[in-house]
Amino acid sequence: MANVVVVGAQWGDEGKAKITDLLAAEADVVVRCQGGCNAGHTVKHGEDVFKFHLVPSGMLYGDTLCLIGNGTVINPQVLLNEIEALQQKGYATSNLKVSNRAHLTLPFHTDLDQAQESALAEKKIGTTGRGIGPTYMDKVGRYGLRIGDLYEPEAVLRERLTQIVEAKAELLAKCYPHLPTYTVDDLLAWCKPFAEKLAPYVADTVGLVHESLAQNHNILFEGAQGTLLDVDYGTYPFVTSSNATAGGACTGSGVGPTQIDRVIGVMKAYTTRVGEGPFPTELSDDIGRQLLEIGQEFGTTTGRPRRCGWFDAVIAKYSVQVNGLDGLAITKLDVYDGMPELKICVAYRNRETGEQTTQFPSQLRALQHVEPVYETWPGWAGSVKETRQYEDLPVEARNYLSRISALIGCRLSIVSVGPERNQTILLENPISGGKRHLSSPEKVIA
Ligand code: IMP
Repeated sequence: MANVVVVGAQWGDEGKAKITDLLAAEADVVVRCQGGCNAGHTVKHGEDVFKFHLVPSGMLYGDTLCLIGNGTVINPQVLLNEIEALQQKGYATSNLKVSNRAHLTLPFHTDLDQAQESALAEKKIGTTGRGIGPTYMDKVGRYGLRIGDLYEPEAVLRERLTQIVEAKAELLAKCYPHLPTYTVDDLLAWCKPFAEKLAPYVADTVGLVHESLAQNHNILFEGAQGTLLDVDYGTYPFVTSSNATAGGACTGSGVGPTQIDRVIGVMKAYTTRVGEGPFPTELSDDIGRQLLEIGQEFGTTTGRPRRCGWFDAVIAKYSVQVNGLDGLAITKLDVYDGMPELKICVAYRNRETGEQTTQFPSQLRALQHVEPVYETWPGWAGSVKETRQYEDLPVEARNYLSRISALIGCRLSIVSVGPERNQTILLENPISGGKRHLSSPEKVIA
């Protein structure tokens, strides 16, 4: 039995929800650790389909404790909508707890996110417009409002809101005079109904997660976004405002690194990105359009079409490094069904100097000057959608997966061949498979 972190190993939308949902069957606790309602994960159970933004993917297992940790930022209306949607379909919600240390997205955070994006014009980040950046800015700037503050005596809450309003008034008046302004009384009135409705769900989740650790429970840490969107390791400034890498699971939950046994990186068999920013293997041809259509690559939160491209082993290897990945979950292999040949980017070449590297560049400018160096692998005829055993995959598919595993130096744990829970090839179960072990990359067959 093990405590496992599941992270996105590309630019988000890798299919983490399906993998988390699958592993949650073995978990006693599922914890969301960072991000907010910028995330979007579709979880299916029978006929029921939920598009969650905040609640952990384990919510559909009624007896799994689902925690939204201190590293997240919470739009209370979005959270209440999700709770209500679950209740309407008869699902239990008493197993959901949200950290009293998590920060609240206040109304002006969303306004500011959208106004800042408009002001950036063609230099925009392409945010989800959900107020995520401004909420984290205020958290780090020490002008945030935490969920726990809602339950302070009114005088204390009023004092906190006064500091916040004073800090924001000048910025709003000088830089964004067209945006609505909020008085302390407006914000107090905004807080009150949320405080009441959220009360049954608010807890010190650090205490809860440590009770679970003391009882040797299995804890699954569910990442949001992806490694290349991490504020430190991503394609800065085209990133989100939190640590989407494995370290974020610790800081966002109150669990130390010594308590984590495994880190599983989820990556698509190809690559996608939504929003602006560099993407070396992006395809703007028919193959890119084919991936978009067959893979149904549209954002869960914003509905935007995702940019699609070949698998990039440079970013994937970097992801293995910065997350300490010791298992890979490769999703959407079936999207490649019938494709005559598949390319893998094995290095970047500088367009001007011709120099090649397999190291992911830290500077945006360097990244803008590279072109991918590809290896071409044969595709497979027929479909892998019904395959449930690794050995039953076409040899071309096995060779493709083995090559990826070998190139990036990480073993293959899971292969997903369709959206349903059972459309999964489990080479090992990271939770019941036990504690940390030495990982060995796959051998290439051909
Ligand atoms: P923000 O997180 O809304 O500030 O957006 C910053 C960048 O992260 C933009 O490029 C978004 O498209 C991207 N982003 C944020 N959340 C997700 C996600 O869950 N999946 C994919 N991209 C995301």
